[in-house]
Amino acid sequence: MNNNDQDGYDETLYKFAEYRETNVRQPVEHYTIHNCMLKQFLDKDGLLTGKRVLDLACGHGYYTRELKALGCSYILGIDESPTMIALARDSKWHCSEDIEYMVADVKSLPPLQSSFDLITAFYLFDYAQTSDELLSMVRFIYAQLGESKTFIGVIGNVTGGKDMFNNRKYGITRETKLPFDGDLLPDSTEIIVTMYDTQDMPMCSFSNYHYSPTTYEQVFKEVGFKTFQWVPYQCDPNDPNGTFFEDLIHNAPSIGIIATK
Ligand SMILES: C[S@@+](CC[C@H](N)C(=O)[O-])C[C@H]1O[C@@H](n2cnc3c(N)ncnc32)[C@H](O)[C@@H]1O
Repeated sequence: MNNNDQDGYDETLYKFAEYRETNVRQPVEHYTIHNCMLKQFLDKDGLLTGKRVLDLACGHGYYTRELKALGCSYILGIDESPTMIALARDSKWHCSEDIEYMVADVKSLPPLQSSFDLITAFYLFDYAQTSDELLSMVRFIYAQLGESKTFIGVIGNVTGGKDMFNNRKYGITRETKLPFDGDLLPDSTEIIVTMYDTQDMPMCSFSNYHYSPTTYEQVFKEVGFKTFQWVPYQCDPNDPNGTFFEDLIHNAPSIGIIATK
């Protein structure tokens, strides 16, 4: 997103919040996050009972609310955009009670007082403009996690080739000014992401930045994470729209990360 929040209102961010609530690929992302990433950390009742959770780049709180609904004891959502945090606190977007929100830039945030059992970041790393910025984000996460605790994140897919850039059928395209060298892009390459509404009309565009899978793996290792795992987009085998999502699974625009301290 751009950071043009001075007037207290940013059209791009507001549009993104709308897109998040309506986009056609949401069932696949929901299944991937809940069934392929979070599930292994839930208790026998399928909950995060007693857990302290931190949701970074929380935007208007879409996933923060889903995490809160899993019964964690405390949840804090952080986003650098005052517009997004204002939306997150707005009851128009469902109940925001019992969720704490903070406006802050993850790259330069001093350590918080207490550690967390689970840290999530859905589309944070895509905003690191340099590998040093990526390192700062991952360092902050590591410092805030309790011992042997887990980080779960989603980013624009960096493991596939150029085919995954055109997902117009699913409401998202990504473009780069640089030509691809085979399927490779240099680190820090700017990616213009455009989101489309259900009528196939552009809703908003913003810049993300590419880092290779190796860079991600190295950064997590350098910071001290013991494990790092890529989690591909997956569709619920019982989804009646499974056939519609086949191309999305083959050329997924996003990918998950699970890393343990
Ligand atoms: C694509 S939105 C995703 C929001 C939310 N996680 C979701 O999936 O609905 C990315 C968010 O990252 C936030 N963001 C980008 N860089 C950030 C940073 N350095 N610190 C905190 N938030 C950041 C933006 O303000 C924006 O709200």
